[in-house]
Amino acid sequence: MNQPASGTVKKTAVITGAGTGIGAAIALRLAALGWRVVLGGRRQDKLDEVAATIRRAGGEAVAVAGDVTVSADVTRLIAAAGPTLDALIHSAGKGHCLTIDELDEQEWNDTVGVATTGAFLTAKQALPRLRATTGGPGHIIQICSLASGGTWNKEVGYGTAKGAQLKFALHLASQMRLDAEKGGRRIHVHAVCPGTVDTPFWTNIPQRTIEPHLCLKADEVAWVVEQVIKNPAATPETLAPIRPRQEIVIKRHAPFERWDNVIALAHESHP
Ligand SMILES: NC(=O)c1ccc[n+]([C@@H]2O[C@H](COP(=O)([O-])OP(=O)(O)OC[C@H]3O[C@@H](n4cnc5c(N)ncnc54)[C@H](OP(=O)(O)O)[C@@H]3O)[C@@H](O)[C@H]2O)c1
Repeated sequence: MNQPASGTVKKTAVITGAGTGIGAAIALRLAALGWRVVLGGRRQDKLDEVAATIRRAGGEAVAVAGDVTVSADVTRLIAAAGPTLDALIHSAGKGHCLTIDELDEQEWNDTVGVATTGAFLTAKQALPRLRATTGGPGHIIQICSLASGGTWNKEVGYGTAKGAQLKFALHLASQMRLDAEKGGRRIHVHAVCPGTVDTPFWTNIPQRTIEPHLCLKADEVAWVVEQVIKNPAATPETLAPIRPRQEIVIKRHAPFERWDNVIALAHESHP
């Protein structure tokens, strides 16, 4: 566990979806770097498990149960960061493999809500603290998906949700660039777009059985998050040579080619 030099303030991150999968892996990585992490998600028991693992390793974690589509819950989550905030990582999400004929209104609302309203409410409420914190740049990272740019009849809801989340990140990035030009804190915005990852995400999707040996691992997505926080100028070209595993492809996946702040990664077997 890295500890900040004495006298320096610990960096703080709020991570949504942190009770399981990619969000949990990001929390573990940032905590291991010496960050204080605030864990968001609806199930308190899942958050507590991750927080306990971090504390056993000597790290600092706070677990705040709540729904990212509910403004009052997001207020509690962001407040738990305390006075300073250095990163917001929005990993909460849900998905499905359903055609429009199979997709019902509830599933549509839940999937689009967590990706888009969740991204909006968390960023909106995190920004005052991110902007007010000093000591280096801030970060907003959206965990999007290859589905953010794909077209598949069974992702009419999920693909639309993740596509909108990606566009949210791109629009927000342009606002943050303008703010920094006017003298505000530089807040880097990235969209990380993984292909299939072996996480509990798939346990709720009976329409598709994944093959774990042909998937990314949650920690490999967390690795990308760590890299862009350490070096916000990282691009697919700079990350590809240092990727954690030979089988991982990091390149300018279509249709994300023109955006440096979109980092897509996939297992080499991914179609
Ligand atoms: N697994 C993949 O193949 C894959 C590929 C590309 C992108 N992604 C994206 O990666 C992100 C993380 O997914 P994962 O693979 O790590 O799956 P996961 O293990 O199911 O994690 C998703 C987390 O989001 C939380 N969550 C869902 N709805 C929420 C809400 N309304 N409010 C607060 N928290 C909510 C869930 O916890 P609670 O149920 O306790 O709230 C869960 O811990 C998602 O955005 C997903 O779209 C996943």
